[in-house]
Amino acid sequence: MYYIGVDLGTSSVKLLMMDGSGKIERIVSREYPIAFPHPGWSEQDPDDWWRETKEGIRQLTEGFDKSQIAGLSFGGQMHGLVILDKDDQVIRPAILWNDGRTQKQTDYLNNVIGKDKLSAYTANIAFAGFTAPKILWVKENEPENFARIEKIMLPKDYIAYKLTGVHSSDYSDASGMLLVDVKNRCWSKEMMEICGVEERQLPKLYESYEATGTVLPDVAKELGLPESCIVAAGAGDNAAAAIGTGTVGNGKCNISLGTSGTVFISSRDFCVDKYNALHAFAHADGHYHLMGCMLSAASCNKWWMDDIIRTDDYGGEQKKIEKLGDNHVFFLPYLMGERSPHNNPNARGTFTGLTMDTTREDMTQAVLEGVAFAIRDSLEVARAQGLEIPRATICGGGAKSPLWKKMIANILNMKIDVIRSEEGPALGGAMLAAVACGEYPSVEEAARAIVEIVDTVEPKPELAEKYEKKYRVFKEIYPALKDVFDKIAEQT
Ligand code: XUL
Repeated sequence: MYYIGVDLGTSSVKLLMMDGSGKIERIVSREYPIAFPHPGWSEQDPDDWWRETKEGIRQLTEGFDKSQIAGLSFGGQMHGLVILDKDDQVIRPAILWNDGRTQKQTDYLNNVIGKDKLSAYTANIAFAGFTAPKILWVKENEPENFARIEKIMLPKDYIAYKLTGVHSSDYSDASGMLLVDVKNRCWSKEMMEICGVEERQLPKLYESYEATGTVLPDVAKELGLPESCIVAAGAGDNAAAAIGTGTVGNGKCNISLGTSGTVFISSRDFCVDKYNALHAFAHADGHYHLMGCMLSAASCNKWWMDDIIRTDDYGGEQKKIEKLGDNHVFFLPYLMGERSPHNNPNARGTFTGLTMDTTREDMTQAVLEGVAFAIRDSLEVARAQGLEIPRATICGGGAKSPLWKKMIANILNMKIDVIRSEEGPALGGAMLAAVACGEYPSVEEAARAIVEIVDTVEPKPELAEKYEKKYRVFKEIYPALKDVFDKIAEQT
């Protein structure tokens, strides 16, 4: 049998076909646009997602015996607000996870409702990218749209809805809405009241590996899928990536270097950090996780390569970087503001330490190192909780770069395990579908059977020591510039 994993990302949808043994048969990817209608805002059209997902499924399955496609599931960009009216029409473009327009609503939730209450209701505090502040933003700024809301959903749940007609979500992704009581895995009545929404507008919640339905007959016909094809609830992309990298059970860590950068720590038991600096969410294996998320990771390198130095030879640029640990140029990677740990949509990117002899290579290196330093910021929050994290797997587009992996290992001073497939969320999605179809008895069993570590990048003590000193400097740059960032934002 075959299983399809759909990773509904920010720049593209990636689709992966896996057989029952976990062998990846084919991967396809289809891009769609993202709009930045105002500095710090970010939106997409859900119908672009649906069109490209359908085209991707056609490409993915071409030439295969489609009657053997038993199941499909997802990893999806988290926190995005998709709203439908009574005729199932999308009311406005989706407001994405890296959109920073909700500072006022986030401040209201954290300071007027209060962090203690939010944490008691949901295990989390408000961050600008979360869904609840976006609902409040629509309520305040687009009351006519708010009044028309019949269904609220997350990005991947829109695709699931189009495929099955079932308004569903899963606990891992829904945790990032700030509407779920994460510990008890149910909607929070208090949060629904605060946001002015009713349970009938929200999706029914499932475990990620549970079937929510099968493909609707007309969609099955259009895509050539069997009507028996089971759709499983799926997961937020980070939880799906964790499944695809074997980050299940207790105390394992995965680092994702995608558009966003995340540090994901699995936990068998519910846990929440003292200051709610990390997100305390449900995991797709039926348990829980802690996560730190930076908003611009591989996207910083993409911006630098594509838009600034204008090259598509990412590998060639990186080959010119020979010496690590001595760069005097620093880069703050806050091109979309920052979530973890600063929780500040006004934060901005900056280069520091430039001199007349600074080269293009130094600046490219600073971009890659800046992202790694910012990942370390999240890791430090986890370490401050007493969590011991000696090693991590790595996935996402940035994980394809050997240089970046070496920087991460030395800047974080931890072992980085490289797995056979870096396609974290898409593979995780296919694995969730396989569990829903009974191919594996549990997510942990599927991970044990499928995920394979093929290499480990070890930190070198001398280089790690040099980077330790650089990290101490990096840590001082944001506090030194914070007020300047606020002034820049005031003038934008
Ligand atoms: C996680 C987050 C991002 C998106 C990226 O909290 O906001 O990692 O899920 O797609």
